[in-house]
Amino acid sequence: MPQPNHSHRRVFVTRPVADAALRRLAETARVDLWDDDAPPPHDELVVHLRDCDAVLSMVSDRLDAATIAATPRLIAISNLAVGVDNIDLSAATRAGVAVGHTPGVLTETTADLAFALMLAAARRVVESDRFVRAGRWRMWTPRLMLGRDVWGATLGVIGWGAIGQAVGRRAAGFGMRVLYATHNPSKSRVDVAPAKPKPRASSQKPSAAVAAIAMTASLAAESVDLERLLAESDFISLNLPLTPQTRHLVGAKQFAAMKRGAILVNTSRGAVVDQAAMTASLRSGHLGGAGLDVSETEPIAADDPLLKLPNVIITPHIGSASHATRNRMAELAVDNILDVFAGRLPRHCANPAVKLASSKRKSPPIPPRRK
Ligand code: DGY
Repeated sequence: MPQPNHSHRRVFVTRPVADAALRRLAETARVDLWDDDAPPPHDELVVHLRDCDAVLSMVSDRLDAATIAATPRLIAISNLAVGVDNIDLSAATRAGVAVGHTPGVLTETTADLAFALMLAAARRVVESDRFVRAGRWRMWTPRLMLGRDVWGATLGVIGWGAIGQAVGRRAAGFGMRVLYATHNPSKSRVDVAPAKPKPRASSQKPSAAVAAIAMTASLAAESVDLERLLAESDFISLNLPLTPQTRHLVGAKQFAAMKRGAILVNTSRGAVVDQAAMTASLRSGHLGGAGLDVSETEPIAADDPLLKLPNVIITPHIGSASHATRNRMAELAVDNILDVFAGRLPRHCANPAVKLASSKRKSPPIPPRRK
């Protein structure tokens, strides 16, 4: 049987990512790069994918069942993200498309941003900055910009995966009491779950100090049900994936069950929260503030009422956006593609039940572009 010529693989990369990773990919495949920070329009994405074996995609690229059906040569999707809610995993599995993602390498960086948002919302950092720039700072006064103490407060983490635990470790350093609840889809309700130690991604090399803190912190955190977490937490951090079960997990009922004045931090996915209910709770003052890196629609509409509220901080989905982490994510995304080209599952595979295809090309592959 004739073997496919692996040097003629073609990969569509939907945005410029780290050069070194792209160069490594180009040693094995012809790289078709969408050289723009704005995403390809969906119909362009489909046109590019028609002739590709793999795609290196972003969270903002929609890879739904119809797209997968329209791209019959595809054998791998490699998402530059830990979350894969932009991809129809069942459709990919049915179509023999392996889906890779980038957990592990972005854990600490994303937890840093969650903590930054929490501190900034609690101490009104962004509001204070706007106040000074507007020339409104006349003198020191004892009641100016009073905020909330983070140290010694109670933090509730919803989703006790790697990122949730990393947020918990930071909280332990601030002398906070840490509660956590996880969503258990098999029971279709929020339930308690013990923290399971996870094997680290090979590309993540945490210091021994971080590993030691991790152990101590996981001993100090208390597993509770969602009701208790909502009732007792001064700060709530959302660190769970978006799935059909977690969509709108935090809605009007959950906001009402929170402590008056609680602050919500969301670095996961906007749709985990019912944004209209959150806006209403913020307006009424029941929810004291929010630090949001994500919104239900991204980018958030310029006229969204959330943007008018002074007690809200919004960043543009930058949880993993440090130079070093984005480089590591790009390397891992390339590794995931090369794994599939070598006939293996991606090292971080979101649909391990997939039956790998070595190639779906019927006609001779397109030769590499001449330099
Ligand atoms: C992720 O990894 O899922 C982030 O949201 C994108 O950085």
